[in-house]
Amino acid sequence: MRLAILLSGRGSNFVAIYEAVARGELTAEIVCVISNRPDAPGLERARKLGLPAHVVDHRTFASRADHEAEVLRIVGQANPDLIVLAGYMRLLSTEFVAAYPMRIVNIHPSLLPSFPGVDAQAQAVASGVKVSGCTVHFVDENLDAGPIIVQRTVPVHDDDDASTLAARILEEEHLAYVEALKKLASYRVDGRRVIFDS
Ligand code: GRF
Repeated sequence: MRLAILLSGRGSNFVAIYEAVARGELTAEIVCVISNRPDAPGLERARKLGLPAHVVDHRTFASRADHEAEVLRIVGQANPDLIVLAGYMRLLSTEFVAAYPMRIVNIHPSLLPSFPGVDAQAQAVASGVKVSGCTVHFVDENLDAGPIIVQRTVPVHDDDDASTLAARILEEEHLAYVEALKKLASYRVDGRRVIFDS
């Protein structure tokens, strides 16, 4: 399974995926890493690991469409089976999503459909839920709304704030992304349900 990784920051989910591949737990190849931010620590990590790493800085393009066209060009050359969003802080256009239907995956730090959008962990704390977690899902034209692949849960403690909850969720994210990619070796999507062959 050929994976194109898109990220904007820290890149801990990318590294978790890389390490699962390196130890033979996940049969996959990371064929490119693209960051829209030149200073993303995840990009630096990709370079140090010797992976094909690209900066496509959105601030240097005249329009959103121009930026996306360049990302799509690089992704296309890498010929991935899946595009893996790992903390990629750009919304994808309908055209981008349509170019890779049910082949773009994202991870979100809440149990979707609860708490989509930014500051999901703070939303969870403020709402008083007792359980939260993370969701790996396909990307469709709506924000954090595509068919769900894997979810993992964590408790929300009385003394949690957004950052303590985020740290607890992040540990599960790393497991969830690897679990999801393993399952995506063979799958079909039936409406909103993702069904695995094994
Ligand atoms: C994660 O919390 C992920 O759920 C969200 O962005 C964050 C990325 O973290 N989409 P990292 O860059 O993978 O460390």
